[in-house]
Amino acid sequence: MRTQVAIVGAGPAGLLLGALLQRSGVDAVIVEQRSPDYVLGRIRAGVLEQTTVGLLDQAGVSARLHAEGLQHGGIELSFGGARHRIDFQGLTGKHVTVYGQTEVTRDLMDARRAHGLVTHYEADEVRVQGFDGTRPQVLWRQAGAEQRLDCDFIAGCDGFHGVCRPSVPASALQVFERVYSFGWLGLLCETPPVSHELIYSNHPRGFSLCSMRSPTRSRYYLQCASDDRVERWSDQAFWDELRRRLDPDVAARLVTGPALEKSIAPLRSFVAEPMRFGRLFLAGDAAHIVPPTGAKGLNLAASDVGLLARALADHYAGDDHGIETYSERCLRRVWRAERFSWWFTSLMHRFPETGEFGQRMQMAELDYLVSSQAASTALAENYVGLPL
Ligand code: APR
Ligand code: PHB
Repeated sequence: MRTQVAIVGAGPAGLLLGALLQRSGVDAVIVEQRSPDYVLGRIRAGVLEQTTVGLLDQAGVSARLHAEGLQHGGIELSFGGARHRIDFQGLTGKHVTVYGQTEVTRDLMDARRAHGLVTHYEADEVRVQGFDGTRPQVLWRQAGAEQRLDCDFIAGCDGFHGVCRPSVPASALQVFERVYSFGWLGLLCETPPVSHELIYSNHPRGFSLCSMRSPTRSRYYLQCASDDRVERWSDQAFWDELRRRLDPDVAARLVTGPALEKSIAPLRSFVAEPMRFGRLFLAGDAAHIVPPTGAKGLNLAASDVGLLARALADHYAGDDHGIETYSERCLRRVWRAERFSWWFTSLMHRFPETGEFGQRMQMAELDYLVSSQAASTALAENYVGLPL
């Protein structure tokens, strides 16, 4: 088999890249180790920057997003027993769109199928080779038979645990990492959201977040220990703890119900540099991870593949500038999002190691944040997303 661009991984990064390339007339094939149902079963964040929506428009997969996505012009910060709104629309002229990553993935999968584009699901033992020369290949086993895809370029969109990043010689990679001492326990529920906007709460018992997927579906999170186990949390225990971390007004309004899904995610900041090695490009979680506070993960993946799709299309039109500057241009945006996600995480969570002093610093910063237009604007600008 032969294609122009072999994409490893059919998460949002790989699927969006495939859709953008198709629009530019570049041929691409995707190789994914899991089944479509498995990919759709992963529950992740659901806040899209306007830039991300623009890329989904460009890819021709945004009809349902525009019909069903919820436009949010701000968020609320809860601390010291009160809530304070940050007005994104007023401060930046921009909003974000609440639309689950699962739905983005489903729309991309449907479009791919409708265009008859090739995705090899349930590929075993995926390997990449030859990207340091001129004849890259992706190899895998499908139902026991060896498969080979020859290509001009490989796009490593295979997430944090994928095969592409580890296939680069360790001496060519520099890795920057911070692992946090806590995780997020998330619960998805078919109940109306407690508020029409997201509420990020700093509480002495730990961080919590009230989010949503639709007017009838809610998503809530609690900061928990990184070695906590989801089996230790009954639905009732989750709701009791969430109520304790909310101000009395919101706690009284909370509508509870049985969990559709409950899981614990660790928190990590991670960047691998550079993001290109010869004819292999890394994009999305394969190259970088942010903690979920601020919901930058999917948006960063989208901006990577936005730049990559343009660079590849330019290459086939005779211009290699985009390919040569891909890593540098992505990393500039990546580090800004890393900084914002790290800062917002540091501001909102309980860090036992920093003690009472750390808590007083957080309260002073939150107080400043909600009373200074300059500080509120800095948060708003980063949350709605910096220009591509
Ligand atoms: N071979 C083929 N596919 C692989 C391999 C492999 N060796 N390893 C992993 N994959 C697949 C995974 O099964 C998954 O479907 O690659 C895909 C990677 O998808 P994601 O992990 O979703 O990563 P990405 O597409 O970069 O999406 C970015 O946004 O909200 C954030 O972190 C969140 O998923 C997230 C992301
Ligand atoms: C979510 O809805 O899952 C979500 C929203 C905002 C975040 C993180 C997760 O910052």
